[in-house]
Amino acid sequence: MLADIERVLIPAEQIQAKVTELAKIISEEYKDKNLMVVCILKGAMPFCADLFRQITIKASLDFMSISSYGASTQSSGVHRIMKDVGDVFGKDVLIVEDIVDTGLTLAFMRDYFARRQPNSLKVVALLDKPSRRKADVKADWTGFEIPDEFVIGYGLDYAEHYRNLPFIGVPKPHVYEKPDIEEN
Ligand code: IMP
Ligand code: MG
Repeated sequence: MLADIERVLIPAEQIQAKVTELAKIISEEYKDKNLMVVCILKGAMPFCADLFRQITIKASLDFMSISSYGASTQSSGVHRIMKDVGDVFGKDVLIVEDIVDTGLTLAFMRDYFARRQPNSLKVVALLDKPSRRKADVKADWTGFEIPDEFVIGYGLDYAEHYRNLPFIGVPKPHVYEKPDIEEN
C-alpha cells in the first residue's frame, strides 16, 4: 500500500494535534447543549472516532451514509441516503465530514438536516479544498485547507482502498489506472 503513495501531505502527528485542538473547541462550544455527533460514512470514520474519544462532554453518536454518483474522483451532486440517523429534533447536531470538495454533499446535508428541525446544526470537516467549490457552503470548523489534489488516507479512499493509512497522502498516478466505481 505504501508503494502507491507519491508523497505525504499531512503526517499522522499533525492530524492528531489538529484533532485534539478541534475536540477542545467542540467540548467548550457544546458544554451546555445536547450534542449529537453524526459521522458521515465511510470517509469520516477514522477522524470521527479520534475526535469523539477526545470530546470531554456528554455526547451521542450516530451514523449516516450518503452515496453520490459519478466518476470516483469527483462528486456528481446526485445523492441518495443509504443509512439515515435517528430523531434529531431538539438536538445539537454536529456533522463530521472527511472533506468538503465541490461542497455539493455538504449543501445536500445542510438542507436535509434543516428540514428535520434540530436545535442547531454545525459541520466539522477534516479537509477543505476551497478551489473546487460548486456550492456556496463552508464547514463551521476545518482541520486543514489543501490544494486541488486528489488525496487518500485517514478515511479517504480511492476505489474503497487506502482508508486505513494514518496520514493524508497523494497517490502515484498508476493508482488511477483502475476502473471507476460508485463512491461514498
Ligand atoms: P463534495 O460533494 O464534492 O464536496 O465531495 C464530498 C465527498 O467526495 C467526500 O466526502 C469524499 O468522499 C469525496 N472526495 C472529495 N475529494 C476527495 C479526495 O481528494 N480524496 C478522496 N475522496 C474525496
Ligand atoms: Mg469517497
